[in-house]
Amino acid sequence: MRVVVTAGPTREFIDPVRFLSNPSTGRMGFAVAAEAARCGHDVVLIAGPVALPTPKGVSRVDVVSAREMCDAVLSVVGLPDNPTVVVSAAAVADWRPATCARKKLKKRHMDGVLNLVRNPDILKRLAGVERRAGGNLRLVGFAAETGDAVCEAVRKCREKRLSFIVANDVTEPGAGFGVETNKVAFVYPDGQVEQLPLMSKRSVARRIVRQLQHLYP
Ligand code: CTP
Repeated sequence: MRVVVTAGPTREFIDPVRFLSNPSTGRMGFAVAAEAARCGHDVVLIAGPVALPTPKGVSRVDVVSAREMCDAVLSVVGLPDNPTVVVSAAAVADWRPATCARKKLKKRHMDGVLNLVRNPDILKRLAGVERRAGGNLRLVGFAAETGDAVCEAVRKCREKRLSFIVANDVTEPGAGFGVETNKVAFVYPDGQVEQLPLMSKRSVARRIVRQLQHLYP
């Protein structure tokens, strides 16, 4: 199976020295890529700016912004001839500044208002490709929520045409950004939920890859 994994945050620059981003470290996505490669799959990892080494056997494409990540994913996936799974673990910025100044903005010229425009939703774009790929493209998402993770996850799973979504409540101890562990549930479009206990991100990655292999033998 071909597995394309996105990981890490994206950066949306305001000027050459400032950007909007989030605390994602990329660890969860890198663990999925490492595990998929260990299981013998052909893995491409599309990474936002993170400080992690490339896992063994994985080919890596580095990107900075959400638009770059979107272009990279679409070009790697193409119209797949062979079964391809995209695991979208990246914390993609939903918004970017309407303009990026070429020179550092001086605070005396700023008025405290930042105009933002929406970034592309990468999974939704891929859902369009999936329709044309004759069942060869499968999508798996992540949903980091602050409360009621399952309900939001079911909605996103349906809207983004996902096989399943890995949901977690980042306010729970041991779950979320910057820690070695995670507590997730696999949520399916029909509302079925499989809650996993607190475990290392490596173990979560192992369960995700096992589930992919089970769904798409
Ligand atoms: N995602 C994406 N492109 C975006 C934003 C998110 O592909 N522009 C993917 C993420 O990688 C993740 C899934 O969509 O796999 C859910 O991301 P999340 O930020 O939780 O969802 P949003 O669609 O941004 O929804 P909301 O803002 O309503 O929480």
